[in-house]
Amino acid sequence: MSFEMNKIAGAILVAMIVAMVSGIIASKLVEPIPLKKNVYEVAIAPEAAPSGGQAAPAGPAPIEPLLASASIEAGKAHTAVCQTCHTFDKGGPNKIGPNLYGIVGSKIAEGRGGFEFSDALKSKAKEVGGVWTVDNLNAWLANPQHFASGTKMTFAGDSKAKDRADVIAYLNSLSDHPQPLPTKVPAQAAAPKAAAAAPKAAPAAASLDALLATANVADGKTHAIICTTCHTFDKGGPNRIGPNLYGVVGSPIAESRNGYDFSDALKAKGKGQTWTFANLDAWLANPQDFAHGTKMTFAGFPKAKDRADLIAYLDTLSDHPVPLPKAPGK
Ligand code: HEC
Ligand code: HEC
Repeated sequence: MSFEMNKIAGAILVAMIVAMVSGIIASKLVEPIPLKKNVYEVAIAPEAAPSGGQAAPAGPAPIEPLLASASIEAGKAHTAVCQTCHTFDKGGPNKIGPNLYGIVGSKIAEGRGGFEFSDALKSKAKEVGGVWTVDNLNAWLANPQHFASGTKMTFAGDSKAKDRADVIAYLNSLSDHPQPLPTKVPAQAAAPKAAAAAPKAAPAAASLDALLATANVADGKTHAIICTTCHTFDKGGPNRIGPNLYGVVGSPIAESRNGYDFSDALKAKGKGQTWTFANLDAWLANPQDFAHGTKMTFAGFPKAKDRADLIAYLDTLSDHPVPLPKAPGK
């Protein structure tokens, strides 16, 4: 037990050093946080691909490779020119063009506080799937008039793909839910339909202990299949889109994991905390509710029983499994 305490103390110490060092590095570097390369590999919605009209004659090349290394800071600088016509802040007013907060992944030419879009953009929207995917944004920003001939946006376009990638990365950061994924990732697609509709009620802490006490590890393992799109679970397994999760129960939140590049969102939320059963339960119920802006683009498990099974399974993947609560009366 005291060996375990030592380990934990050691882990916390290491984590603090890592946090310090990475803080220093982070202040020197601008990290394109939500736009990790791998994410895009998984992310690209099939419907974002060929839809004839969207490309101008030999339309822009796919932007995904550039997004992987895009700079949000540079993107922000490039959008100075947009500000003649657009605001970018949450709740900002429409000007000559609509407010652009949360534009990535949102509907083309819809909503935006009643902004009066041109028929040109509205009808183009129908042709290209109706959503500002990164590909649509890329084509649009390369040449608005090519994308939607007759659009009201009298902006020549930015011919440099790198600039557009940076701008898109920046736009994507302006969101309650920065979505590197145009629409759905496989994990979400495969998740129970109920996930989307499920009320976002905070998981009931009271019943968690009871559910853990009777959790089914085998079921939990089955539920964890969906996670393997992004995570490995074996000891010493590599980080993928998400970090390796061996020994995650009881470990510090968003720290270490062999240098995995966690989002600021999860780091801020998890500061000084560990993955207790309750934290894991809240996280797995709805990652975005737990840590707004997290890179984990997984819808969450609406069913408390599924989460408990999953947590019980995760807990087995450890050199020192944290004891699960005992069933009352046992
Ligand atoms: C001269 C004014 C002007 C400039 C400069 C401008 N825009 Fe626009 N933008 C507009 C107008 C007007 C619309 C509405 C287009 C329509 O309805 O056809 C628009 C629409 C958009 C839309 C679609 C919004 C939606 O909800 O569908 C995006 C995205 C966009 N602009 C991004 C940008 C970015 C990024 C820049 C800078 C690189 C920029 N714009 C520069 C005027 C401008
Ligand atoms: C689409 C990819 C994806 C899927 C699917 C996914 N995750 Fe993640 N996960 C991530 C990413 C990315 C992070 C890093 C989050 C951040 O830094 O904001 C993460 C972080 C985590 C963390 C925090 C790790 C730490 O050390 O703090 C846990 C725990 C976790 N995921 C569990 C799961 C479980 C369990 C599942 C399956 C139910 C799952 N994830 C499904 C991508 C995914």
